[in-house]
Amino acid sequence: MNHKAQEWFNPLGGYRAAGRGVADDRRVAVLVSGHGSNLQALLDAAAGPGSGIAVVLVAADRAGAFGLERARRAGIDTAVVRPGDHPDRPAFDLALRDRVAAARPDVVCLAGFMRILGPGFVRAFPDRIVNTHPSLLPAFRGAHAVRDALAYGVKLTGCTVHLVDEEVDHGPVLFQAAVPVEPGDDEDRLHQRIKREEHRLLPRAVRLLAEGRVRVEGRRAVLLEPEEVPR
Ligand code: GRF
Repeated sequence: MNHKAQEWFNPLGGYRAAGRGVADDRRVAVLVSGHGSNLQALLDAAAGPGSGIAVVLVAADRAGAFGLERARRAGIDTAVVRPGDHPDRPAFDLALRDRVAAARPDVVCLAGFMRILGPGFVRAFPDRIVNTHPSLLPAFRGAHAVRDALAYGVKLTGCTVHLVDEEVDHGPVLFQAAVPVEPGDDEDRLHQRIKREEHRLLPRAVRLLAEGRVRVEGRRAVLLEPEEVPR
């Protein structure tokens, strides 16, 4: 692989090699499929003074995702990459990878992105993809975590913000928050309370990653103090 290709496969390295942009903000690409309340929490955090992060792209797997509308309102670039427009999943992964890599992100954030990302995507952004999942992993992986937790009858569930690896809902954990199940909860009510925790933790995780304050040691993500970040 030549030098140029290496930069392309590693947007973090490529970006650093090219020097920082107009602003010093770290670049965040966000993937959504739906409502986008976690995206909104990120946009709000990014807009705060001295946040150090800028959302530079919001990409969705379907045109109707309301998250795209939130991005447009905030003046952020959007993209739609639909699985149906590609012959198979690996081709979709690569198309999405190319679109996201073109935004030169320091961090890629999955904020309610309801597709499984294959190695073609994941390997392009090693230890730089963060996801939020509405359960205390490793319990209740998959697309219906809140429903499954209720059906199981747990008294405590919550959310997990974690790095993305090549297995579904699996990578090293950055943050978790517990949310008690209350009598009379239905899926929607419980999910709303879980989302409140996600809205708090996901922006924190994105900032830590953006600042290089996450060191991966096997299954563990070690969170570093600013002075511990290797220069
Ligand atoms: C979140 O609960 C996330 O954990 C799950 O999907 C939900 C997305 O919500 N993967 P929103 O689109 O951010 O409102």
